[in-house]
Amino acid sequence: MNTEVISPQLSSLATGLLVAFAFDAAKQKGAGKSETPQVKLLTENAEVTNAARECLAGGEFAAGAAETLLLHSPAGLAAKRLLLVGIAAPTAHELRKAAAVAVRFAKPRNLRELAFVAPSGESLDPAAALRAVVEGACIGDFDSDTYRSERKDKSIERLAVAVDASADRGQAEAAVREGMILGEAQTLTRSLVNEPGNKMTPTVLGQRAAEMCRKYGLQCEVYGAEKLHELKMGAFWSVAKGSSEPPALIVMTYEPPNAPAGPVLGLVGKGITFDTGGISIKSADGMEKMKYDMAGGASMIGAMQAIAQLQPAVKVIGIVCAAENMPSGKAMKPGDIPIAMSGKAIEIINTDAEGRLVLADGLCYAKRLGATHLIDAATLTGACVVALGTINAGAFCNDEETYRRFAEAARKTGERFWRLPVEDDYAEHIKSNIADIMNTGGSRSGGAITAAMFLKEFAEDTPWIHLDIAGVAWVDDQKPWMAKGPTGVPMRTIVEWVRGYAP
Ligand code: BES
Ligand code: ZN
Ligand code: ZN
Repeated sequence: MNTEVISPQLSSLATGLLVAFAFDAAKQKGAGKSETPQVKLLTENAEVTNAARECLAGGEFAAGAAETLLLHSPAGLAAKRLLLVGIAAPTAHELRKAAAVAVRFAKPRNLRELAFVAPSGESLDPAAALRAVVEGACIGDFDSDTYRSERKDKSIERLAVAVDASADRGQAEAAVREGMILGEAQTLTRSLVNEPGNKMTPTVLGQRAAEMCRKYGLQCEVYGAEKLHELKMGAFWSVAKGSSEPPALIVMTYEPPNAPAGPVLGLVGKGITFDTGGISIKSADGMEKMKYDMAGGASMIGAMQAIAQLQPAVKVIGIVCAAENMPSGKAMKPGDIPIAMSGKAIEIINTDAEGRLVLADGLCYAKRLGATHLIDAATLTGACVVALGTINAGAFCNDEETYRRFAEAARKTGERFWRLPVEDDYAEHIKSNIADIMNTGGSRSGGAITAAMFLKEFAEDTPWIHLDIAGVAWVDDQKPWMAKGPTGVPMRTIVEWVRGYAP
């Protein structure tokens, strides 16, 4: 998608689809009770306001969230069509969705070019709003039907953002550029997650990461089984050894010359390219979805792409532990005791709790490489889906200041997290009689928390955030602003968290 900032006389802008946003002022907080909608456009532009006036007065458009109204040959405009998109409230987060709605309106109608009227309003930060609009356009542009034979790629080719002639052009261009960087990184994450297990093996994930790193000037190492042995990554290897697909330990490094010696941020992603459960095999029902068990890893690859372009002055190491969890004659068995890189002996109770095993060594390695702050993302537990559904990801943290920064980042991106406890009492469940720790407790209750407690044993005292994204990395129902399938969450928040450390 090509993007540009323009500041034309809107009446003479020749475009197939001009998009403007609107909201119902009567429904806003503090507006008092009113039965009749009070639709307001998010632009002061007189030409657009005139073109929309008649239909707004007619009451046929209430500007509800994701509501659309298409006007052909709008009066006084050179645009062929004017699309009004409703938003629940005049905020950047709602605009992100609304821009995605506009793109998803255009795509099936074969409209490949669109122009957004840059949103403006009292409570809106113009740069944040523009950035959100462009991110949203990218989010809306993604479709997951890559392998359908008759798929016609209806992606948007050109996107213009029309700002007022008096607007700060440099600021608008920077905001659009940022929006594109984040939007494209999210698309990268989603397209990696979307690939089926037979196409997206650990080796292929490593190749895709290496390609990205080459393109954006990051250092990249992709190691195989030998390196796992050399580093004594017994936990990671215990998962990898059951598959005939070799594992990949992906290490992406961003080290700008202006970065201070510390902090060093370690991003660690679970990259299970398919999770059968191993010997503790999963039931067939829904197992096909376990191709998305590498969404945490894909988020880190997307995040590193965005970081490489945004150039924050902080060193970042991205690690993806990629393997396939398979049952076989070589697979780990319940009762086995692998020794993790940290030296801890782990009693395997359930081979389906494999994510925490690969992450145990990933976290340890990030620290070995100098990470002072850790964040991991993993489709780790079904228990987290039971607890929080598909709206919030579970977030765990052992350090208040680190979490404060993370919550601040999430506030900016609109991605949603719910903090769950990290308390020693929960670790009782994973004490082992024979080894240092068990990979699952006997009880299913509090499963997302015991998984986090397991990881904490490997993060130790290093400030660390764990994101359980099992419920949010994939959605089964499509939304007006998003195709069903991979979401790309929590890539944008991770990038924002990283940027928060740049002086
Ligand atoms: N990959 C799964 C978790 C998962 C479940 C992701 C649903 C996405 C949707 C993970 O490896 C797993 O199987 N966890 C087990 C842990 C249990 C054996 C302690 C689970 O949640 O059942
Ligand atoms: Zn599993
Ligand atoms: Zn898994």
